[in-house]
Amino acid sequence: MEERIVSGETQREEEWQELSLRPQRLSQYIGQQTVKENLKVFIEAAKMREECLDHVLLYGPPGLGKTTLASIIANEMGVNLRTTAGPAIERPGDLAAILTALEPGDVLFIDEIHRLNRSVEEVLYPAMEDFCLDIVIGKGPSARSVRLDLPPFTLVGATTRAGMLSAPLRDRFGVMSRLEFYTQGELSEIVTRTADVMNVSIERSAGGEIARRSRGTPRIANRLLRRVRDFAQVRAEGEVTKAITDEALELLQVDQEGLDHIDHKLLKGMIEKFKGGPVGLDTIAATIGEESHTIEDVYEPYLLQIGFLQRTPRGRMVTHRVYDHFNLEVPGT
Ligand code: ADE
Repeated sequence: MEERIVSGETQREEEWQELSLRPQRLSQYIGQQTVKENLKVFIEAAKMREECLDHVLLYGPPGLGKTTLASIIANEMGVNLRTTAGPAIERPGDLAAILTALEPGDVLFIDEIHRLNRSVEEVLYPAMEDFCLDIVIGKGPSARSVRLDLPPFTLVGATTRAGMLSAPLRDRFGVMSRLEFYTQGELSEIVTRTADVMNVSIERSAGGEIARRSRGTPRIANRLLRRVRDFAQVRAEGEVTKAITDEALELLQVDQEGLDHIDHKLLKGMIEKFKGGPVGLDTIAATIGEESHTIEDVYEPYLLQIGFLQRTPRGRMVTHRVYDHFNLEVPGT
């Protein structure tokens, strides 16, 4: 996949920058009101009972704060955070090693949990349910199973696709929270907060503009802010003004709706080659040279959210808004 400035996914060398900017506490976390209110109660209740928090599944498009929330949960519970990802745990033994190294109450964060393989998932079931590991010793008729106790822990799983989780795994999460795209007001607040943490002076309208073009996604807002700050530093003595923001976003090829050249390729391809649809996901993928699941997980959710795309039983369709956006005549009008 091409690297894009408006992708919700983490990019090279971005992780450590993000970590230093992230809110540490629930009270500092902007947006996701329902998720926050629920978590606050569950955390408080678990602490009152002196138990660990029930397992939590966070799902939704990339860049909306799943990792941040996992780290906040650990901070609020006053425990360690251990982080890994589905594809990194190749064998049951890898997971056993992680689980046996946990301290009581720890939060284990598994990103991309839908990418765990079956044999690893099976180790996770008794671990989540009874805090134990079933280890098989020996082979053939003399093989026997030994139960090993684990410290109680909280699994926080994150996925862009809750639908891809197996039912037995999904059922073992006591809390399931879906993260939504952020409003422009929330993103403005986040940009202001991040600018403050980075010690950057920013005009209010500049923050609003970055928020408007960030596809409802804090990771994109913060990334655009960092790039605009570069322009401001070189061309405007460090102050992030509205004028420098407009100029920078134009040069970064982020349009008025926060769409970039890949969105343009996708939407214009649908119009030019398929009369705006309906057209199947795999056909769109082949046309623009991307994987279907990348389109489904990364590009499409925001286009659906802003009403540029529609899903129909016969495939994807562009809406009249897309024609308006590109100053094209809507067919049949
Ligand atoms: N930085 C990234 N996401 C954030 C959020 N939801 N609240 C505050 N700061 C953030």
